[in-house]
Amino acid sequence: MNVQVVSDKQAGGQAGFKVFEQALANGAKVLGLATGSTPVTIYEQLVASDLDFSQLTSVNLDEYVGLTADHPQSYHYFMQQHLFNAKPFANSYVPDGTNADAAAETKRYDAIIKENPIDLQLLGLGQNGHIGFNEPGTDPESTTHKVALTESTIAANARFFDNADEVPRFAYSMGVGSILKAKQILIVAYGEAKAAAVAAMIQGPVTPDVPASYLQTHPNVTVILDEAAASQL
Ligand code: GLP
Repeated sequence: MNVQVVSDKQAGGQAGFKVFEQALANGAKVLGLATGSTPVTIYEQLVASDLDFSQLTSVNLDEYVGLTADHPQSYHYFMQQHLFNAKPFANSYVPDGTNADAAAETKRYDAIIKENPIDLQLLGLGQNGHIGFNEPGTDPESTTHKVALTESTIAANARFFDNADEVPRFAYSMGVGSILKAKQILIVAYGEAKAAAVAAMIQGPVTPDVPASYLQTHPNVTVILDEAAASQL
């Protein structure tokens, strides 16, 4: 793993932007994208740049089950606001949270990933070591699946909703196996609350207890951290 420690989120946004810029220069055609607060400064840099995504495809990691694309807390909406409105892609895929048929939706999304192999996958990190919505215990070979969110993830994400009761209990997420198939992975984490998960991801055993630890098995991973997130390394 190539670990870069930066001073703050702004510097992380610039460092992350450079990884995207290089991937595009190397011919990347499919970008795997993530939501949450962490990627925001990277998206700001992408929006401010003259990079052109109009011939590219994006594939997002996950979506809450039950939220429509126009719900302000849906990941569809997040991507529109932070990237797609300013920088449209030829095709952008996000799991359909309104599809109540989990078997059909996960199959549909796996077919999309298969047709669009991901060149660069951006990831944030959950406080419990999750990636996408792959919570502790997830099979490393997993493909897209319906996930029951853990209490800690519901609590961590409650800040975006009026209260914890409004946080959806389920999500559709690419699997750990789907993520590991990406040619290159960029994972970013900021803040003290992520420090234990960062140390477990990089220095701990490769274990389903810490889904991000499987990134140790991937040949091309860049990790961008601020000093607080790197403080337990
Ligand atoms: C959610 C998302 C993850 C994200 C994580 C961390 O659970 N499904 O993809 O990495 O939150 O979010 P944040 O970047 O806001 O800390």
